[in-house]
Amino acid sequence: MGLYTVVITGASGSAYGLRLVEQLVLGGHEVTVTMTDAGRDVTSYELGFDLPMEEPANGLKGYLELGKDAPLRYACANDLFDPIASGSHRVDAMVVAPASMGFVGAVASGLANNLPERAADVMLKERRPLILVPRETPLSLVHLRNLTSLAEAGAVVVPASPAFYQKPQSLDDMVNFVVGKVLDVLGVDHGLFERWGE
Ligand SMILES: Cc1cc2nc3c(=O)[nH]c(=O)nc-3n(C[C@H](O)[C@H](O)[C@H](O)COP(=O)(O)O)c2cc1C
Repeated sequence: MGLYTVVITGASGSAYGLRLVEQLVLGGHEVTVTMTDAGRDVTSYELGFDLPMEEPANGLKGYLELGKDAPLRYACANDLFDPIASGSHRVDAMVVAPASMGFVGAVASGLANNLPERAADVMLKERRPLILVPRETPLSLVHLRNLTSLAEAGAVVVPASPAFYQKPQSLDDMVNFVVGKVLDVLGVDHGLFERWGE
């Protein structure tokens, strides 16, 4: 089973990151979750879910209806002593969903100012999979250049752009499509959408 890190930043669409966490944990994988301050605020606004700062892992498990023993760990965004801040810690892949343009810019510049930025920096320097799910529109030249830098450094960019050929019936279907594409990149089996031609 895999070891994954999922970062939720303050871009719109924390539903993507949370669905991804749910799917990975249900698939038996170990997941470390970290949310930026803006990620927590936007999640509260969009989903009505306030991450409790006392026992955040249990709060997430409760929200996602995962069992108490689910292999989910929460790392505080300001804790630079967390294992994911070091390249010597084993992580199979890291996904940032959604990824704000601020986060993309910070990682493209190598800032590593907080745990999510440092963890992404580590994935790039260790040549491990880093998947970004950016959410912004329209994209400025600065955004495009930063995303290009990160793609050149090895990141995989999976834009939060649900498809309509799937004939989505609900927001859930649209979230599932984007999360399914991320799981495809990770090589993790899922049944989140029907595959074209099947
Ligand atoms: C309701 C709301 C929605 C936002 N949506 C986006 C977005 O889709 N993309 C983006 O890049 N920033 C968005 N932002 C702005 C980011 O939250 C802001 O740039 C923040 O500083 C990002 O910080 P972080 O990268 O540390 O999470 C949004 C902010 C709010 C309040």
